[in-house]
Amino acid sequence: MDANELRSKYIEFFKSKGHAQIQGKSLLPDNDPTVLFTTAGMHPLVPYILGEPHPAGTRLTDYQKCIRTGDIDSVGDPSHLTCFEMLGNWSLGDYFKEGAIAMSFEFLTDKKWLGIPVEKLSVTAFEGEPGIPRDDESAAIWKRLGIPEDRIRFLPREDNWWGPAGATGPCGPDTEMFIDTGRPSCGPDCGAGCKCGKWLEIWNDVFMQYNKTADGSYEPLARTCVDTGMGIERTVTILNGKKSVYETEIFAPIIATVEKASGYVYGSDAEKDKSVRIVCDHARASAFILGDPKAVSPSNVGAGYVLRRLIRRAVRHGKKLGIEGTFLPGIAEVIVGKFGGPYPELAENRARVMEELENEEQKFLETLVKGEHEFEKLLPNLLRNPQKVMSGRLAFKLYDTYGFPIELTEELAAENGMTVNRAEFDDAFKKHQELSRAGSELTFKGGLADHGEQTTKYHTATHLLHKALQMVLGAHVAQKGSNITAERMRFDFSHGSPMSAEELARVEAIVNEQIARDLPVTMEMMGLEDAKAAGAMALFGEKYESLVKVYSIGDFSKEVCGGPHVDRIGSLGKFKIQKEQSSSAGVRRIRAVLE
Ligand code: ALA
Repeated sequence: MDANELRSKYIEFFKSKGHAQIQGKSLLPDNDPTVLFTTAGMHPLVPYILGEPHPAGTRLTDYQKCIRTGDIDSVGDPSHLTCFEMLGNWSLGDYFKEGAIAMSFEFLTDKKWLGIPVEKLSVTAFEGEPGIPRDDESAAIWKRLGIPEDRIRFLPREDNWWGPAGATGPCGPDTEMFIDTGRPSCGPDCGAGCKCGKWLEIWNDVFMQYNKTADGSYEPLARTCVDTGMGIERTVTILNGKKSVYETEIFAPIIATVEKASGYVYGSDAEKDKSVRIVCDHARASAFILGDPKAVSPSNVGAGYVLRRLIRRAVRHGKKLGIEGTFLPGIAEVIVGKFGGPYPELAENRARVMEELENEEQKFLETLVKGEHEFEKLLPNLLRNPQKVMSGRLAFKLYDTYGFPIELTEELAAENGMTVNRAEFDDAFKKHQELSRAGSELTFKGGLADHGEQTTKYHTATHLLHKALQMVLGAHVAQKGSNITAERMRFDFSHGSPMSAEELARVEAIVNEQIARDLPVTMEMMGLEDAKAAGAMALFGEKYESLVKVYSIGDFSKEVCGGPHVDRIGSLGKFKIQKEQSSSAGVRRIRAVLE
């Protein structure tokens, strides 16, 4: 069974169980300062798990492209990926443990669906902790369905608890499903959850039961929900008896392209295989980010920084494989072709994917040449050092000034019989990270959207700003991105030139006039076509459900949006633009506050 078939079967199965198929969302979440990327299928659904009604009902299913960069440095081993697809089904106050587990079991084992023999399955459930009971209920359901008791393990929080990814939000115990890979077990204690490689986790049913509050306590959610996630790549691996995700049809054409570009045959050398895997994963992640309707460009902050890191690491490993010149666009071409079916946005944004990869790769290749040149210049002095240790500060300077990666400095040092003081480099690098990413380190781990009072106000102010910009600059202004914290809003929009002081003042005045009118904010659900006909602004290129929420601010603005918003805008305070600058080609960025 290939990925396309698995995707279709999963959706078909859950549709047959009364679920509505919804569209997966962008990889770059809007209005969420806690994450850089969509890290799980549940991520875009957080407001609904917290209680808002979903236009498509209480049973939902979809497939979602995800990026997790938490263990980017493990990519290269046979199983880690930064970019993956997740299949999911959700119950929003509908079925709970019984329903979720019974459906998971049926989909996994029934011959009509995956047909995995029950003997190959094992599961885990939450072992409990003070204040939160052991999940005997899930275990009993599995047992009743036919999983023998010795294939059901209770594990602690590290294994069997999901969320909140941020500081607060919905969370709960989960039950995870593992398949026997056929490899030998590591001993009598080996079982589901063991990391030795015998058992591969493919699916996770989370029972969203609690809301973790700011004081660290767990309060029961008013309405319990189910959030599940099945990893497509892993499941395809196990269903086809492969040892690694990289051996599946998902990666086969990408690996073939790397082989062709490098002349290296995958499987002949462990170190080089690792480089091939890094190139494949990072090229795929980069193509997905650049092919997203809300794509960012490579940069030194936030998601753009991660993208830059992915591209540069891929280039470095491509070089290790002996590839000359730029090669990522060629690989991306294959990726766009392979995944353009389930993700048509990749094909739609093909030109941008190619152009950005070409530019960044070219830029990095120049950096490498310049860095090597600088290293050569330093060399005579370095060689005079009797300890043969290059200081971390100097290595950091090469990185900071020329973008020269530490691994390459280390390589060049080694070629000249030297080492680099890595601890000193890491120290300098860490300080730099803290500064340049302005504390966004947290965002790498994933997290939940903040729907506090102040962020809600900023969210509403975003609609006012969007409309005011269109009035002052013209109808070409379209939202390209938005990022909100409790302290400020940031809004990216299409516009070709810097705004004049007068234009900025006019925009500010228009927004403040509306706030003074204390307009009411109202919401209506309607068909997407009706919403467009009613003149609602919608994000170009973003995918919507067939039924959408349209928020109107009096007679001033009408926009398709998930909310939440304030009831009346008189409470917003004074709107003030702090900065207007370029964000990327043809895109301007405004930073503003409510005082
Ligand atoms: N949100 C859960 C996960 O990512 C299903 O594992």
